[in-house]
Parts: sequence; C-alpha cells; structure tokens
Amino acid sequence: MEYVKFKNADIIVNNSDYLVKKPTNYKNKWHELFGNNNPINLELGMGRGEFIINMAKNYPNRNFIGLELNINQMVKAVEKLSKEKLPNLKLINCDAKEIDKIFGKEINTIYLTFSEPWPKKIDEKKRFTHESFLKLYDKIFKKDKHIILKTDNKGFFAYSLETLSNYWYVFDRVSLDLHNNEIPIPNIMTNFEKKYYEEKRPIYYLDASFKN
Ligand SMILES: C[S@@+](CC[C@H](N)C(=O)[O-])C[C@H]1O[C@@H](n2cnc3c(N)ncnc32)[C@H](O)[C@@H]1O
Repeated sequence: MEYVKFKNADIIVNNSDYLVKKPTNYKNKWHELFGNNNPINLELGMGRGEFIINMAKNYPNRNFIGLELNINQMVKAVEKLSKEKLPNLKLINCDAKEIDKIFGKEINTIYLTFSEPWPKKIDEKKRFTHESFLKLYDKIFKKDKHIILKTDNKGFFAYSLETLSNYWYVFDRVSLDLHNNEIPIPNIMTNFEKKYYEEKRPIYYLDASFKN
C-alpha cells in the first residue's frame, strides 16, 4: 500500500521520546525500560497509532509497544503523542520480521489490526499470520500465546483462522461482524476501521490463544 509522505518524517519521529531508537538493546529488558512488571502487549503494523495509543490511555496498568515499518505512517502517531504523557507506551520503527532480535520471551498479547492482507499467493509469507510469523511469535510470547486480530478482509480472515488453528491456537472469540455482535466486544476503532464502519463493511475479529 502507498502511504502519504511527510517532509522530515525521519527527523520528527526520531525526536520523539516515545521512540526506542535501538530496540535490540532492550531484548529481555523491556520490563526494566518500562520500570514495572506489568504485561507487555505489542501491535505489529500500528500505522498512525490510534489503536495502541488509546489502549495505553485506557489501560495504564499494562505496557504497550507499537511497531511500524513505515516512518511516514509513524509521523501522525508521534504528533498525537506530543500532547500526551503515557509512560506505558513505546514505539519501534522496524520490520516485524525483526521481532525475535528485539524481544526475548516477554510479550503477553500481539495485536494485528487491519494488517495488510497480501492477497497474492506470491506474497503469502508477508502475511502476519503465515506460519513463519507464528513461529517468530513463539520466540517472543512470555508463556501463553495470545493474538487479537481485526480485519475488513474476508480472505485474510479465513486464511488466519486456518493458519492459527493448524498451529493449535484455540479461538476464544470470533466475530464476523464486530460492530453488530450480539454480545458486545470491547473495541477501539482504528483509522481504517472508522472508514470501513462508515461504509457499513463488516469487521472480522478473532481472539486466539494457546495455553502452555
Ligand atoms: C493497513 S495499515 C493498518 C494500520 C493500523 N493497524 C490501523 O488499523 O489503522 C497496515 C500497516 O502495517 C504496516 N506494515 C506492513 N508490513 C509491515 C512489516 N513487515 N513490519 C511492520 N509494519 C508493517 C504498514 O506500513 C501499515 O502502516
């Protein structure tokens, strides 16, 4: 996907106190960086950060990390954060493929919100629920595995249900229409989600875990 480019994006993001500039230095030390032993939750591909910023605001007793590859996407998150004081939030600018170099077994939950679906077979390995990514997640989950995924893309959702169940995840909740679910599911809408919601497109949701 092509995203809007911002002038000096690199400088703006690198000046933010929320950015962890050398994240590999904190492998197995993220609790020390946060200064507490609260659970650490990670969003891969946080985009402009609506989801992870609001999670950090709503749950001050949990730690959150937003990881994003595209520096231009991160500019908006950093701008929003310039008015906030959230000691339980950190940002990382890197490829999700690098997470095993950044984290030891210290992550409680991984959020995949509106991840790029990569519909072509040739791009299958880039999908965040491809087996190669599930194997990477094994290296960073603290004990039990826990993934929460939201998407508007039916194909990517069906694919994820299959790869996760083949990998022995159990589905604690699944919704084919998150905003019209009989039993409401607590939710924070992301930028993409607001747009799709207004277009009345269903949002697919799953909460999957594997208890060790
Ligand atoms: C469609 S956007 C969704 C953003 C946000 N989660 C939301 O719901 O508004 C997908 C984001 O994932 C990022 N992304 C894609 N592949 C990535 C990768 N391998 N590592 C880190 N971020 C990635 C993209 O740059 C983009 O910002």
